[in-house]
Amino acid sequence: MSKQNFVPAQQSGKPLRHFLDLKDFSKETLRKILELSKELKKLMAEGERPPILQDQMLAMVFERESTRTRVSFDVGMRQLGGQTLMLTGREMQLSRDETIADTARVLSRYVDAIIIRILSHDDLLELAGAASVPVINGLTHLSHPCQVMADIQTYEEHRGPIENATVTWVGDANNVLASWVHATAIFGNRLNIACPDEYAPSQGMLADIGAAGDKINLIKDPKEAAKNSDLIIADTWVSMGDKDASERRRILSPYRVDKDLMDMANSDALFMHCLPAHRGDEVSAEVMDGVQSVVFDEAENRLHIQKAILAYVFGIEELS
Ligand code: CP
Ligand code: NVA
Repeated sequence: MSKQNFVPAQQSGKPLRHFLDLKDFSKETLRKILELSKELKKLMAEGERPPILQDQMLAMVFERESTRTRVSFDVGMRQLGGQTLMLTGREMQLSRDETIADTARVLSRYVDAIIIRILSHDDLLELAGAASVPVINGLTHLSHPCQVMADIQTYEEHRGPIENATVTWVGDANNVLASWVHATAIFGNRLNIACPDEYAPSQGMLADIGAAGDKINLIKDPKEAAKNSDLIIADTWVSMGDKDASERRRILSPYRVDKDLMDMANSDALFMHCLPAHRGDEVSAEVMDGVQSVVFDEAENRLHIQKAILAYVFGIEELS
């Protein structure tokens, strides 16, 4: 797509294209984004970086720590010809009580899209509601949609359609799991969830689990849950904002993904973790660094899928 015929969605009279949660999308749209990601990844391997977002400015508002999301959005936007502006909450008037909505209105006058990492999901929704440019969810305490799109791309590169997979989540019922629940309702894979009672799905997540019909099973025993699985997923036991770290480590210790647990799954099962990982807590070093682990492919795919997500929110569906 050349610069001349590029019309940002927000200037075209079409509704704004936010990327807030997977459950907001049809399977068809998510499939298009996955296809575009595959195409962009292939082009990059061939040394091509189509400048489809030339001169567009992405504001990156990070209220919390990040390595992958921050760097991959920054690099991805630049690879598409765009520019980025890194903003941390502490440096903005947000930290001195300017409202999220006013921040959204002001940023919308300067930039062409916003990605935000903020723990409060309500704040994300307030930002998106007040912005007149597209907003992307870079993680809240309730969901992490970009991560799960990268997970699906990674699974499919190694094993084929996610629709045929049995996925097992082991540990805390957190934000990444929430996005896997949304993905399961859309793609129709199977999802086993092994969590202790103390860190089981919230009422909100249970409602989303209900929406996935019989595709999702809550199985408390992690070894039982792992049986017949094609993919085992772990995440940190202590997410950003969680206060009860030592209690969490104690209660979640039977939910460590180690070789015994992987051996309960199918012999060619993959292991994924969104990272950062804590070897010896939620995953043993043997599994994390073993042959079944695809965690660094998963991290790489954040770059490709987020370039496709950027293209989507800017209203670009094809590269030519
Ligand atoms: N997985 C993930 O979102 O990593 P960061 O916290 O480093 O962005
Ligand atoms: N569940 C983790 C994911 C980090 C990318 C957290 O919220 O801290």
